[in-house]
Amino acid sequence: MRSVTEYTAIEPHGGELVDRRVPEGERAERLQKAEELPKVVLGPRALSDLEMISTGVFSPLTGFMGREDYESVVETMHLANGLAWSLPITLSASDEEANGVDEGDEVALTNGEGSVVATVTVTDRYSYDKGREASAVYRTEDGNHPGVAALYRQGNTLLGGEVTLLDEAPNPRPFPQYYYEPRELRAIFAEKGWRRVVGFQTRNPVHRAHEYIQKSALETVDGLLLNPLVGETKSDDISAAVRMKSYETILDRYYPKQRTVLAVFPAAMRYAGPREAIFHAICRKNYGCTHFIVGRDHAGVGSYYGTYDAQHIFEEFAPEELGITPLMFEHAFFCLNCGGMATTKTCPHEAEAHVFFSGTKVREMLARGEYPPPEFSRTEVVEVLIEGLRDEEKVIKQPRT
Ligand code: ADX
Repeated sequence: MRSVTEYTAIEPHGGELVDRRVPEGERAERLQKAEELPKVVLGPRALSDLEMISTGVFSPLTGFMGREDYESVVETMHLANGLAWSLPITLSASDEEANGVDEGDEVALTNGEGSVVATVTVTDRYSYDKGREASAVYRTEDGNHPGVAALYRQGNTLLGGEVTLLDEAPNPRPFPQYYYEPRELRAIFAEKGWRRVVGFQTRNPVHRAHEYIQKSALETVDGLLLNPLVGETKSDDISAAVRMKSYETILDRYYPKQRTVLAVFPAAMRYAGPREAIFHAICRKNYGCTHFIVGRDHAGVGSYYGTYDAQHIFEEFAPEELGITPLMFEHAFFCLNCGGMATTKTCPHEAEAHVFFSGTKVREMLARGEYPPPEFSRTEVVEVLIEGLRDEEKVIKQPRT
């Protein structure tokens, strides 16, 4: 019998899926010992990173980056061993936490409530230049950029080293029925007989342009992995609960069950645009996807990135370096003259005929209780959005009936 890895036709990044969970039999003793160790408290993003490292989503990373990998990733988008990797995955410590730690030490990582979730064998304890990381990774040093702001808030010392996960679920799992580790998704794809699987990243409720590019991609492969991000996002993004509900609502009616899998992506959003597109693709490769959708302004925020920068960055890598194939889509919209969905690539008409709203515009409409038109978003989804925003008390008026 072929192994799952062989069947899905794509190897994990670096060749093997990482698993950093403590063997069950050692958990209790290791947890007890960890209580005595110096502690570093993890915020939501670091907790999510820990989970992703430990379950293999970030393969080949086995821990938080040491100095050599960090510098190499920031400067060259490759790990020190030459493997493509675009975002630093680091563990920052406050001055107080870092003072108690030397290279060679074992450190316990705790969640916000103070419970130990993992340990790190610290091989590197180093300072770093936040401005340099910001301009290299985010292409801006502007503290208004949400990713850069998060970086500026970090502690001043980085601790690198392999992790051992002691808590099975270090991070809350709000959508357990859609939670799969890379091994599990690979097994599902194998069972379905999918050789070519396209992954879709999103931090927004599904709209018609999303559906159009998802289904256009699906036309050329065997299966579609809808993989909404449910980790930390900026406060004005629509919540993960509403995002997931929007998918649940239309999946049954409009997506082929035998060719679609909905699974959460428990990563935190960095808003690093182009570099995050590469990172998103590598994570989906680890889940077993052979293809990955990159549309307009992927993982972008405000006007920090050009509309297609996240596509152009793929030209900086040889295809075999990434292994996963990006499927690029131009800006998609409903064209009144074409009478259907199209993109700037396939539609000859002027912008006046195009129905499309920015995320900000949609949020404003929803806040007024206005329905965006069905050419932009399916009515079922708009209802979920209105309801979700009303629950969060962000709708000012009653919706139109
Ligand atoms: S993202 O931060 O996760 O990229 P979003 O959920 O809006 O944000 O986008 C998910 C994916 O759909 C990304 O690949 C993005 O480029 C693509 N996309 C979103 N809207 C459009 C559109 N109108 N046309 C083409 N691609 C789009």
